[in-house]
Amino acid sequence: MARMSADINVIVQAVEKAARSLLRDFNEVDQLQVSMKAPADFVSAADRRAESILHKELSASRPGYGFIMEESGSVKGDADKPVFVIDPLDGTTNFLHGLPHWCISVAIVKDGEPIAAVVFAPVTNELFWAEKGRGAYVDKKGLRVSGKKKLEFSMLAYGELSPRNAWYKKLLNDIETFGKKGASLRRYGAAALDLSYVASGRFEAFWETGIKVWDVAAGILIVQEAKGKVVSLSSKNNDPLTSGSILATNGLVHEDVQSTIGNVDYK
Ligand code: IPD
Ligand code: CA
Repeated sequence: MARMSADINVIVQAVEKAARSLLRDFNEVDQLQVSMKAPADFVSAADRRAESILHKELSASRPGYGFIMEESGSVKGDADKPVFVIDPLDGTTNFLHGLPHWCISVAIVKDGEPIAAVVFAPVTNELFWAEKGRGAYVDKKGLRVSGKKKLEFSMLAYGELSPRNAWYKKLLNDIETFGKKGASLRRYGAAALDLSYVASGRFEAFWETGIKVWDVAAGILIVQEAKGKVVSLSSKNNDPLTSGSILATNGLVHEDVQSTIGNVDYK
């Protein structure tokens, strides 16, 4: 049975507190449709409130740790201490539209590697977590990637599909190719949850270019500890944490998926 370490417990307590704040805001999203307040302002206020709770709680429990946060940037810690990498609200567009698929993502990164990870989806109340060398879990249940080997039985999730991105046409092409190979495809809109779903065996693969470290830090470890495979798709940087171009799979469809996509460079 899964036993959480002190580090994971500290993160879970902070995340649950931030989740209460986000859930209060999420319940107001309906009224937002008729309010004068700009939706972007509303969501960034919710984001900032959650991030400040996380920062306050985690810096009190783990003094000297550094922080990399989506909203407020980086806070340097002691040279010998790890860093918290935080996305206080991943899936902001879903949140704003009243869709339940959003989460909080927190990782501890040491020497460039995630060593502890929590991804919490407050509406569905699923808590994904992992520690390096100690497995991945959803609540108390162990996680394992799916055993599917064939693309035609697989569900593949992709990231942002926007004509603003240089790789837009390539992404459209790749989606078409996978569709022709018989795969099911999804765009769920919260990268940390997409990765947790690969770890849970719900998706066989997830890929995205233009992704940030706070979107993937926790999810990478959760996939790896569920015995999945995570790689960078960049031709210039092979670290999936920092390259901005990531592929995570169950390992079994990996070759097939990676050879179809090839390299996609973020920068
Ligand atoms: C975004 C989501 C989305 C992904 C984007 C991210 P945000 O994060 O994870 O699924 O496609 O690349 O920026 O803005 O909702 O925290
Ligand atoms: Ca995010």
